[in-house]
Amino acid sequence: MVKRNPNLAKLQSGYLFPEIEKRKKEFISKNPNAKIISLGIGDTTEPITPRIVKGLSKAVSDLGTKEGYGGYGAEQGLSELREKIAAKLYNGLIQGNEVFVSDGAKPDTGRLQVLFGNKVTIAVQDPSYPVYVDSSVILGQTGNYNEKSTNFDGIEYMKCNPQNDFFPDLANTKRTDLIFFCNPNNPTGAVATKEQLQQLVDFARKNKSIIIYDSAYSQFISDENLPRSIYEVEGAKDVAIEISSFSKSIGFTGVRLGLTIIPNQLKYEDGTQVRKDWNRIMTTIFNGASNIVQHGGLAALDNAGLKEMKQTVSYYLENARIIRKTLEKLGYEIYGGVNSPYIWTRIPGKNSWKAFEEILNQAHIVTTPGVGFGPSGEGFIRFSAFGHREDIKEAVKRIEEHLK
Ligand code: MLT
Repeated sequence: MVKRNPNLAKLQSGYLFPEIEKRKKEFISKNPNAKIISLGIGDTTEPITPRIVKGLSKAVSDLGTKEGYGGYGAEQGLSELREKIAAKLYNGLIQGNEVFVSDGAKPDTGRLQVLFGNKVTIAVQDPSYPVYVDSSVILGQTGNYNEKSTNFDGIEYMKCNPQNDFFPDLANTKRTDLIFFCNPNNPTGAVATKEQLQQLVDFARKNKSIIIYDSAYSQFISDENLPRSIYEVEGAKDVAIEISSFSKSIGFTGVRLGLTIIPNQLKYEDGTQVRKDWNRIMTTIFNGASNIVQHGGLAALDNAGLKEMKQTVSYYLENARIIRKTLEKLGYEIYGGVNSPYIWTRIPGKNSWKAFEEILNQAHIVTTPGVGFGPSGEGFIRFSAFGHREDIKEAVKRIEEHLK
């Protein structure tokens, strides 16, 4: 028989969100009449808007014609879309040929791990999106799991908590090859200022590290003074890769469209362009994002599409405001939910899974336990603001009743 990959055996349990789904199903089997509201996984709920649907459907119809049919496309994405992303989402801060269109930020994270291999060292914000740690474990970069500290001894965990305003203490952070940084942060909803991002870039430049900057939620930044891209910061192109996504801003979680930006000037120690190797990875193990979906992306970036994107984002931000307001009224400590769809809070005296179970049992609301995002998430829970308005209103009623 074939031996199991020992790295997979090191993963602590199932991936966080399927684990939550499992517990939800167990609850439903015991309480079949309960009307569950999910504020757990950040999955979009509102229909795709008309301009974007038109872009998608036109691409489908075109495929049914001789003139409009196309087979394999460029693995890097349609050049028109790459140019439009550079112009409309990045205001020309980057060039079209630095954009690689893909099926999402999560698969790109996995492919970036393949790009860098298993000899690199990594740092992550603690707490952070579990894919960074889990994919590093799968690649074998992480050393062993330490039961006592509930972390991997080969990973540098950069604590982000209310005491440091959710920005890591870089003066006490060990040098690593890669630094994963998610902004706005999933799960805390914290957003770094331009000065903070400059500190991060300066730190990476000094240490000759590469930042993998995840801006999947950047469209939720409504405060004009906050940076939406790492490339707004001086020197970032020498040290940063940015991954991003159309999932949350236009409801493409199931449709799938994302991107990775690798600046032309980002180089390895030996002077090779990182972009050159990424191109090799993408052309070898990826066949390009669906051509239909890319046309949806193109539609999202014209004037009407951008307006719709803004409306979709505003809808979820209003949900976040409603949840925040209720938790505030009840006197909870709350973070995020202003320039982000996630609200981070704690239920005094309860660990994360206990709080998760109680909210599920009493209010029939699914949340996400903070500890699932890293050891510093213990004691916290995350509310997602993705949901129909009527469900959010019902959820806050139940919160007022059960969490007072
Ligand atoms: C989350 O809930 O943290 C995310 O939606 C999961 C994801 O985007 O993969």
